[in-house]
Amino acid sequence: MFDTLFIGKNFVVYDEIPSTNSYAQQLLAENPPEGTVVFTNRQTAGRGQAGSEWFSAEEKNLTFSLILRPTFIPIDELFLLSKMVAVALRSALQKVQEDGHFQIKWANDILLSHKKIAGILIENQLDGVGISYSIIGIGINVNQIHFPKDIADTAISLKQFSGKDFEVLSVLAIVLKEMEAFYLLLKEGKKNMIESEYLQHLYGYQEDIYVEIAGEKQQVYVVGVEKSGRIALMQGGKMRYFDIKEIKWTLP
Ligand code: BTN
Repeated sequence: MFDTLFIGKNFVVYDEIPSTNSYAQQLLAENPPEGTVVFTNRQTAGRGQAGSEWFSAEEKNLTFSLILRPTFIPIDELFLLSKMVAVALRSALQKVQEDGHFQIKWANDILLSHKKIAGILIENQLDGVGISYSIIGIGINVNQIHFPKDIADTAISLKQFSGKDFEVLSVLAIVLKEMEAFYLLLKEGKKNMIESEYLQHLYGYQEDIYVEIAGEKQQVYVVGVEKSGRIALMQGGKMRYFDIKEIKWTLP
Protein backbone atom coordinates (compact mmCIF):
# COMPACT_ATOMS: atom_id res chain seq x y z
CA MET A 1 0.00 0.00 0.00
CA PHE A 2 2.90 2.38 0.73
CA ASP A 3 5.99 2.77 -1.42
CA THR A 4 8.38 2.31 1.52
CA LEU A 5 10.86 -0.25 2.83
CA PHE A 6 9.48 -0.70 6.33
CA ILE A 7 7.39 2.27 7.42
CA GLY A 8 3.69 1.48 7.22
CA LYS A 9 4.20 -2.18 6.29
CA ASN A 10 2.40 -3.02 9.52
CA PHE A 11 -0.62 -0.73 9.17
CA VAL A 12 -3.10 -0.85 12.05
CA VAL A 13 -6.40 0.85 11.25
CA TYR A 14 -9.22 1.74 13.62
CA ASP A 15 -12.57 3.27 12.71
CA GLU A 16 -12.50 5.25 15.91
CA ILE A 17 -10.09 5.42 18.84
CA PRO A 18 -9.41 8.03 21.51
CA SER A 19 -5.76 8.62 20.59
CA THR A 20 -3.44 6.84 18.16
CA ASN A 21 -0.49 7.71 20.42
CA SER A 22 -2.15 6.13 23.44
CA TYR A 23 -3.01 3.05 21.41
CA ALA A 24 0.54 2.82 20.04
CA GLN A 25 1.79 2.96 23.62
CA GLN A 26 -0.34 -0.07 24.52
CA LEU A 27 0.95 -1.88 21.44
CA LEU A 28 4.55 -1.58 22.66
CA ALA A 29 3.93 -4.45 25.09
CA GLU A 30 3.61 -6.71 22.01
CA ASN A 31 6.97 -5.60 20.53
CA PRO A 32 5.55 -4.23 17.27
CA PRO A 33 7.86 -4.12 14.25
CA GLU A 34 9.65 -0.85 13.64
CA GLY A 35 7.64 1.23 11.20
CA THR A 36 4.23 0.18 12.56
CA VAL A 37 1.63 2.85 11.83
CA VAL A 38 -1.57 3.25 13.86
CA PHE A 39 -4.20 5.16 11.90
CA THR A 40 -7.76 6.28 12.52
CA ASN A 41 -10.26 8.48 10.73
CA ARG A 42 -11.94 9.39 13.97
CA GLN A 43 -9.72 10.30 16.88
CA THR A 44 -11.96 11.28 19.75
CA ALA A 45 -9.47 12.33 22.42
CA GLY A 46 -6.35 13.43 20.56
CA ARG A 47 -3.49 14.63 22.69
CA GLY A 48 -1.26 17.58 21.91
CA GLN A 49 1.98 18.90 23.34
CA ALA A 50 2.22 19.95 26.98
CA GLY A 51 -1.00 18.20 27.96
CA SER A 52 -3.12 20.09 25.44
CA GLU A 53 -5.90 18.57 23.32
CA TRP A 54 -5.64 17.93 19.60
CA PHE A 55 -9.03 18.42 18.03
CA SER A 56 -9.61 16.90 14.61
CA ALA A 57 -12.95 16.84 12.76
CA GLU A 58 -14.12 13.30 11.90
CA GLU A 59 -12.84 11.85 8.62
CA LYS A 60 -11.39 15.15 7.49
CA ASN A 61 -7.81 15.02 8.64
CA LEU A 62 -4.82 12.83 9.14
CA THR A 63 -4.23 11.50 12.63
CA PHE A 64 -1.72 8.70 13.03
CA SER A 65 1.22 7.44 15.05
CA LEU A 66 4.40 5.86 13.80
CA ILE A 67 6.45 3.51 15.96
CA LEU A 68 10.23 3.75 15.53
CA ARG A 69 13.18 2.19 17.36
CA PRO A 70 15.89 4.86 17.13
CA THR A 71 18.17 3.02 19.55
CA PHE A 72 21.19 4.52 17.74
CA ILE A 73 20.44 8.02 19.06
CA PRO A 74 22.18 8.87 22.35
CA ILE A 75 19.79 10.20 24.99
CA ASP A 76 21.42 13.64 25.01
CA GLU A 77 20.82 13.94 21.27
CA LEU A 78 17.16 12.94 21.29
CA PHE A 79 16.09 16.31 19.99
CA LEU A 80 17.62 15.26 16.66
CA LEU A 81 14.70 12.88 16.24
CA SER A 82 12.29 15.71 16.80
CA LYS A 83 14.12 17.77 14.18
CA MET A 84 14.13 14.87 11.74
CA VAL A 85 10.36 14.39 12.07
CA ALA A 86 9.69 18.10 11.59
CA VAL A 87 11.98 18.29 8.56
CA ALA A 88 10.42 15.19 6.96
CA LEU A 89 6.87 16.33 7.60
CA ARG A 90 7.56 19.82 6.25
CA SER A 91 9.19 18.41 3.16
CA ALA A 92 6.30 15.98 2.57
CA LEU A 93 3.70 18.75 2.86
CA GLN A 94 5.72 20.86 0.44
CA LYS A 95 5.44 18.00 -2.04
CA VAL A 96 1.70 17.75 -1.49
CA GLN A 97 1.16 21.48 -2.02
CA GLU A 98 4.09 22.77 -4.04
CA ASP A 99 3.10 26.43 -4.05
CA GLY A 100 2.63 26.60 -0.26
CA HIS A 101 5.16 28.24 2.07
CA PHE A 102 5.73 25.60 4.73
CA GLN A 103 7.96 26.36 7.71
CA ILE A 104 8.93 24.75 10.98
CA LYS A 105 8.00 26.62 14.12
CA TRP A 106 10.25 25.64 16.99
CA ALA A 107 10.11 23.11 18.38
CA ASN A 108 8.27 21.04 15.82
CA ASP A 109 5.04 22.58 14.59
CA ILE A 110 4.54 22.92 10.87
CA LEU A 111 3.25 26.20 9.51
CA LEU A 112 1.64 27.04 6.19
CA SER A 113 1.35 30.75 5.46
CA HIS A 114 2.32 31.40 9.12
CA LYS A 115 -0.58 29.29 10.44
CA LYS A 116 -0.39 25.85 12.03
CA ILE A 117 -1.13 23.05 9.60
CA ALA A 118 0.36 20.13 11.51
CA GLY A 119 1.43 19.15 15.00
CA ILE A 120 3.80 16.48 16.26
CA LEU A 121 3.72 14.69 19.60
CA ILE A 122 6.73 12.45 20.23
CA GLU A 123 6.62 10.09 23.20
CA ASN A 124 9.72 8.05 23.96
CA GLN A 125 10.08 4.86 25.91
CA LEU A 126 13.43 4.63 27.59
CA ASP A 127 15.11 1.59 29.09
CA GLY A 128 18.24 1.36 31.26
CA VAL A 129 20.61 2.13 28.38
CA GLY A 130 18.75 4.52 26.15
CA ILE A 131 15.74 4.82 23.95
CA SER A 132 13.83 1.62 23.18
CA TYR A 133 10.81 2.96 21.30
CA SER A 134 9.62 6.26 20.00
CA ILE A 135 6.01 7.02 19.18
CA ILE A 136 5.71 9.77 16.62
CA GLY A 137 2.16 11.15 16.70
CA ILE A 138 1.23 13.39 13.79
CA GLY A 139 -1.91 15.41 13.18
CA ILE A 140 -2.32 17.22 9.85
CA ASN A 141 -5.21 19.51 8.99
CA VAL A 142 -6.21 18.25 5.57
CA ASN A 143 -9.85 18.85 4.60
CA GLN A 144 -11.21 20.57 7.71
CA ILE A 145 -12.45 24.09 7.04
CA HIS A 146 -14.08 25.03 10.36
CA PHE A 147 -11.93 25.15 13.47
CA PRO A 148 -12.87 25.82 17.10
CA LYS A 149 -13.00 29.52 17.88
CA ASP A 150 -9.81 29.62 19.96
CA ILE A 151 -7.66 28.33 17.09
CA ALA A 152 -9.65 29.58 14.09
CA ASP A 153 -7.19 32.43 13.46
CA THR A 154 -4.04 30.41 13.92
CA ALA A 155 -4.90 27.08 12.25
CA ILE A 156 -5.08 26.25 8.55
CA SER A 157 -5.76 23.17 6.43
CA LEU A 158 -4.59 22.11 3.00
CA LYS A 159 -8.15 22.61 1.77
CA GLN A 160 -8.37 26.12 3.16
CA PHE A 161 -5.17 27.00 1.36
CA SER A 162 -5.90 25.37 -1.98
CA GLY A 163 -9.70 25.26 -2.13
CA LYS A 164 -9.66 21.58 -3.03
CA ASP A 165 -10.25 18.29 -1.25
CA PHE A 166 -7.40 15.88 -0.65
CA GLU A 167 -7.32 12.10 -0.42
CA VAL A 168 -6.20 11.61 3.18
CA LEU A 169 -4.42 8.31 2.48
CA SER A 170 -2.50 9.79 -0.46
CA VAL A 171 -1.18 12.52 1.84
CA LEU A 172 -0.24 9.82 4.36
CA ALA A 173 1.65 7.88 1.68
CA ILE A 174 3.79 10.92 0.87
CA VAL A 175 4.43 11.66 4.55
CA LEU A 176 5.48 8.06 5.32
CA LYS A 177 7.82 7.91 2.32
CA GLU A 178 9.49 11.17 3.30
CA MET A 179 9.68 10.12 6.95
CA GLU A 180 11.47 6.94 5.97
CA ALA A 181 13.94 8.79 3.74
CA PHE A 182 14.91 11.28 6.47
CA TYR A 183 14.94 8.62 9.19
CA LEU A 184 17.38 6.55 7.15
CA LEU A 185 19.56 9.64 6.65
CA LEU A 186 19.65 10.09 10.41
CA LYS A 187 20.49 6.43 10.88
CA GLU A 188 23.37 6.79 8.42
CA GLY A 189 24.74 9.57 10.62
CA LYS A 190 23.90 12.46 8.26
CA LYS A 191 23.05 14.72 11.17
CA ASN A 192 24.29 17.85 9.43
CA MET A 193 21.80 17.45 6.63
CA ILE A 194 18.94 17.28 9.12
CA GLU A 195 20.31 20.22 11.12
CA SER A 196 20.74 22.45 8.08
CA GLU A 197 17.34 21.55 6.62
CA TYR A 198 15.80 22.34 10.01
CA LEU A 199 17.44 25.76 10.22
CA GLN A 200 16.75 26.54 6.58
CA HIS A 201 13.02 26.22 7.20
CA LEU A 202 12.86 27.42 10.80
CA TYR A 203 10.38 30.25 11.24
CA GLY A 204 12.21 33.40 12.37
CA TYR A 205 15.72 31.96 12.02
CA GLN A 206 18.29 34.78 12.05
CA GLU A 207 15.49 37.31 12.18
CA ASP A 208 14.05 39.66 14.76
CA ILE A 209 10.70 38.34 15.86
CA TYR A 210 8.25 38.88 18.70
CA VAL A 211 7.75 36.28 21.40
CA GLU A 212 5.98 36.23 24.74
CA ILE A 213 8.26 35.65 27.71
CA ALA A 214 6.61 35.52 31.14
CA GLY A 215 3.44 36.94 29.58
CA GLU A 216 5.24 39.94 28.03
CA LYS A 217 5.67 40.53 24.33
CA GLN A 218 9.37 41.00 23.60
CA GLN A 219 11.53 41.37 20.52
CA VAL A 220 14.27 38.77 20.14
CA TYR A 221 16.74 37.63 17.49
CA VAL A 222 16.65 33.88 16.75
CA VAL A 223 20.22 32.54 16.88
CA GLY A 224 19.51 28.82 16.66
CA VAL A 225 18.46 25.68 18.49
CA GLU A 226 20.77 23.85 20.91
CA LYS A 227 21.45 20.11 20.90
CA SER A 228 19.18 19.82 23.94
CA GLY A 229 16.33 21.41 21.99
CA ARG A 230 16.43 24.75 23.82
CA ILE A 231 16.08 27.78 21.60
CA ALA A 232 18.92 30.30 21.61
CA LEU A 233 17.80 33.92 21.40
CA MET A 234 19.67 37.19 21.50
CA GLN A 235 18.08 40.00 23.45
CA GLY A 236 19.67 43.34 24.23
CA GLY A 237 23.11 41.97 23.28
CA LYS A 238 22.74 38.97 25.62
CA MET A 239 22.20 35.32 24.76
CA ARG A 240 19.19 33.70 26.39
CA TYR A 241 18.08 30.06 26.21
CA PHE A 242 14.52 28.82 26.62
CA ASP A 243 12.64 25.57 26.97
CA ILE A 244 9.39 25.09 25.13
CA LYS A 245 7.15 25.92 28.09
CA GLU A 246 8.96 29.15 28.89
CA ILE A 247 8.13 30.99 25.73
CA LYS A 248 5.12 31.66 23.50
CA TRP A 249 5.42 32.55 19.85
CA THR A 250 3.34 35.29 18.41
CA LEU A 251 2.92 34.79 14.69
CA PRO A 252 2.62 37.72 12.30
C1 BTN B 1 0.62 19.47 19.04
O1 BTN B 1 0.88 20.27 18.14
O2 BTN B 1 0.23 19.84 20.15
C2 BTN B 1 0.80 18.00 18.76
C3 BTN B 1 -0.42 17.38 18.16
C4 BTN B 1 -0.26 15.92 17.86
C5 BTN B 1 -1.56 15.31 17.42
C6 BTN B 1 -1.40 13.90 16.96
S1 BTN B 1 -2.84 13.31 16.15
C7 BTN B 1 -2.24 11.69 16.17
C8 BTN B 1 -1.49 11.48 17.47
N1 BTN B 1 -2.38 11.00 18.52
C9 BTN B 1 -2.57 11.88 19.48
O3 BTN B 1 -3.32 11.74 20.46
N2 BTN B 1 -1.86 12.99 19.23
C10 BTN B 1 -1.08 12.86 18.02
